[in-house]
Amino acid sequence: MMELLARGRDAQVYALDSHRVLRQFDAPRDLRREVAAMECARAAGLPVPAVHEVTVDGMVLDRVDGPTMFEALAADPSTARQHAATLAELHHRVGAVAAPAELFTDVGEGDALLHLDLHPGNVILGSVPTIIDWTNAARGPADADPAVCWLLLRVVAVDDLGVRPALVETFLEAFLESFDRDALAGQLAAIARLRLVDPNMSPVERDRIRRFVADPW
Ligand SMILES: Nc1ncnc2c1ncn2[C@@H]1O[C@H](COP(=O)(O)OP(=O)(O)O)[C@@H](O)[C@H]1O
Ligand SMILES: [Mg+2]
Repeated sequence: MMELLARGRDAQVYALDSHRVLRQFDAPRDLRREVAAMECARAAGLPVPAVHEVTVDGMVLDRVDGPTMFEALAADPSTARQHAATLAELHHRVGAVAAPAELFTDVGEGDALLHLDLHPGNVILGSVPTIIDWTNAARGPADADPAVCWLLLRVVAVDDLGVRPALVETFLEAFLESFDRDALAGQLAAIARLRLVDPNMSPVERDRIRRFVADPW
């Protein structure tokens, strides 16, 4: 039996040994875009697990030991501003990378690498903060990525995950200090459209997305 490290919304992650994990999905899927995005990010020097093997329904990755940024935030609320600054820096670094043409989408004009799910649950605080879960990766305007993070921090039911909404609000305020909010707001309609068709979003979250886009401030 392999050791189950984590079960996410989408994937089970098993330890293969002390250096590698298997990220396994429930059904076969085309992983070419995700792998292309991870390889592009790594080639640009971003902290991303190396992909060692790809199967019809999973991938073997470098194992990153440490809590997610979300877990670290829940464990010590006093770290909110520091983690928000780290996450903002990761966003700026991803947005500075040019993405390959195969990562096309209809998010908007632009050729930046987009993760499109870069929230504190997808950063593992290993020896360096490392970005995981490139399922939604795409190519487009760099402002789309922090806009997604803004939307998710407002619509995901964090109280169910053991974090107080007020703490998330402190984190979000600190995160947004690193960006031009009006520019991010300009991306919200396009990224909300993508999220509304995402099967991982619950009906409650969909409802919250509609209300958030109508009045993000
Ligand atoms: N490379 C990795 N090394 C160690 N743990 C990982 C790795 N990738 C994912 N995990 C663990 O699995 C969890 C879910 O992984 P993730 O790729 O975010 O899947 P999901 O699509 O389900 O969100 C993460 O929160 C983390 O705890
Ligand atoms: Mg994830």
